[in-house]
Amino acid sequence: MYIGIDLGTSGVKLALVKKDGEVIKTVSKSYEVLIPRASWTEQDPYTWFDQTFSGLKNIILGYEDQIEGIGFSGQMHGLVILDDQDRVLRNALLWNDQRTIKEVDYLNEEIGIERLLEYTGNIALTGLTAPKILWVKNNEPEIFEKISKIMLPKDYIAYRLSGVFASDVSDLSGTLFFDCKNKQYSKEMLEILSIKEEMLPQIFESYEKIGYLTKDLSELLHIHHKVPIIIGGGDQAVGAVGMGIVNDGEASISLGTSGVVFVASDTYNVDYKNHFQSYAHANDKYHTMAVMLNAAGTIKWWLEQILQKNDFVSFYQEISKSPIDDSIFFLPYLTGERAPVNDPYAKGVFFGLGAHHTQTEIGRAVVEGVTFGLKDSFEQISNLGIDIKKARITGGGAKSHVWVQMIADMLNIDIIKIHTEEGPALGAAILAMVGAGAYDSVSQACETIIREVEIFHPISNNHEEYQKKYQTFQKLYPNMKPLFPLLSEK
Ligand code: XUL
Repeated sequence: MYIGIDLGTSGVKLALVKKDGEVIKTVSKSYEVLIPRASWTEQDPYTWFDQTFSGLKNIILGYEDQIEGIGFSGQMHGLVILDDQDRVLRNALLWNDQRTIKEVDYLNEEIGIERLLEYTGNIALTGLTAPKILWVKNNEPEIFEKISKIMLPKDYIAYRLSGVFASDVSDLSGTLFFDCKNKQYSKEMLEILSIKEEMLPQIFESYEKIGYLTKDLSELLHIHHKVPIIIGGGDQAVGAVGMGIVNDGEASISLGTSGVVFVASDTYNVDYKNHFQSYAHANDKYHTMAVMLNAAGTIKWWLEQILQKNDFVSFYQEISKSPIDDSIFFLPYLTGERAPVNDPYAKGVFFGLGAHHTQTEIGRAVVEGVTFGLKDSFEQISNLGIDIKKARITGGGAKSHVWVQMIADMLNIDIIKIHTEEGPALGAAILAMVGAGAYDSVSQACETIIREVEIFHPISNNHEEYQKKYQTFQKLYPNMKPLFPLLSEK
């Protein structure tokens, strides 16, 4: 049996999985996101490790002799820094932290987008690791000087479990100091960041074994054989593996806090137009993804913070009673946005509010606004010449049939649900299977394990109405854009 560990933002999830993909047991342990200032987000790597190890104890109990491999999926881009005694130097800065606006401007404007694209295949975004390194250098120089090791969140856990300082190509792709096409560190970027290659982990493919669970930890877990540790990858790539999205042209949509349109590709393509993230995949190929920061998280905000409710089922039933009407719109960029508008200043906006609008129409506008945002990304990806006819869907938001049908209608493609919702934790277990030799390749494992169970076909009338409404939606952000920086930061 194999263990997939998904080190997420709200907690760590572990899944114990048989070779045929059957999930025997899952364990989740939560932790908080620390918000020391508005739009700053941090977590303590020691807490990640304690919660992960406590989850491992729970999940392994009763299966001690049967563990054949452990693999990882991790929240991407976070900056973990250690001193020469392997002590964590400060809390990790997370993927959704927006403090690096100045550093991003420096990279995109002074170093310049062309050079960044040439060195890494990507441009600077506030969430990525490289601007975070510059931020520490500029704002906490005494900490910067002590840096001995730089790693990504899941790599810290893999390091503590195996003693091997390692990372993988999919997660390193999100650092902006990695040449994604050639899968090596970019010497130019390391120079720009004033860091040395010795500070960085050894590079592996995501399905490769980096070593074994240490003796000390094996004893604590009552394991008497050698357990291979497989490095795994970034949560988007590994989540795609957990959905079977590995072959050229296959696409998925995931509706978590963030909303992601993901397309697997055999070749590496730099996106010169939209600058969508163009990364190495976990199956030794590549992928392009558009990451919208405000997806299911925005709907949760509407329901829980504003309406003070928590019944998502009734909420979606209620809004499905209201017709598609273009009298009210919502821009969903509550926490700034990455794709496709890439604007840390952007915020949420209701447009068209009238005295006749009730909770129902406004709620519908919120869900539509998020979905139009996804459509924006989907249209841009399609404009790159990738003809997407169907996509598999996952994430908490995919539980709602109303929302999934809305996505099929807006995008005008088939949206497919698969037999499992385990996503990244299952993907991590699949990578562990491949690394431990249970399957020859990631695609062979996915073909065996992942099954499609339900298809949502687009309804053409709805599509036409959404197309009309989309014309107006598309005009809103460009008109609002100059106004967002006028808002005060709270
Ligand atoms: C991907 C990204 C998020 C985080 C969240 O670029 O920022 O998916 O990995 O877990």
